[in-house]
Amino acid sequence: MTSQPRETAERLARLAANARAGQWSATGDIDWRREPSLPFWVTRAQVRHAISQLHHGETATARMCRRLLSELGAGAARDCVALQAADEARHAEVYRRYLDRLGGIAPMDGNLASALEGAAEGPAGSLGAMVAFNVVVEGEVLRLQDTIAEFLPCPLLKQINRLIARDEARHVAFGRIYLTEALASLSPDSRARLYDWVRALWQEASESTLAKRSRNPAVRRVLRNWLGKGWSHHEAALKRIGLTPGPAAERRK
Ligand SMILES: [Fe+2]
Ligand SMILES: [Fe+2]
Repeated sequence: MTSQPRETAERLARLAANARAGQWSATGDIDWRREPSLPFWVTRAQVRHAISQLHHGETATARMCRRLLSELGAGAARDCVALQAADEARHAEVYRRYLDRLGGIAPMDGNLASALEGAAEGPAGSLGAMVAFNVVVEGEVLRLQDTIAEFLPCPLLKQINRLIARDEARHVAFGRIYLTEALASLSPDSRARLYDWVRALWQEASESTLAKRSRNPAVRRVLRNWLGKGWSHHEAALKRIGLTPGPAAERRK
């Protein structure tokens, strides 16, 4: 991977300094004397399943960061990714502790497993994986956290999510700064291919999620709407880093 111009390197160095100063502890900074508090309208199994998916997402992102570390030379970008790897491992650990109180980690959803597997194998080497993880996967985690918080007013989970969201905001900022610079050096064709690949990955994951879920039309409508909003959100984020549909994709619209 390439080294950055001075301005980008300085912004990344500031981000790494913030990340270092913002490290928190999975044991000391959460009030573990509290227990999960679940409202009557959700079952323990449903909450366990939903939070387990967040846990699996964090574990996969930590793995992607460790893979990137082996490819990045010394510098601010590497520092940011090393700190992100520590953040993601801590997030996974905190969710695991929460899940321990609900009966342990539930298996990964099949759709999530194939989406994460696909995300790790993108075009343009690690850049593809970074686009998929930093923009789409992390964006989804934040959306999912918000949705869960809306339906699950648990003070312990609220405290966990507040700390995690602070770290995630830095990861999103890192992705935006680093990828804008790195993607600008690709040809327009390669950028369009990358966009098409992420779009297809998203579409496949959404369709299989819809296919597997409830047959109730009202539930399906809510889910379809939620997924549609997700893509609009990711599309805007992709545009901000310089990824837009190629002419072929535009013609298909
Ligand atoms: Fe995370
Ligand atoms: Fe993250």
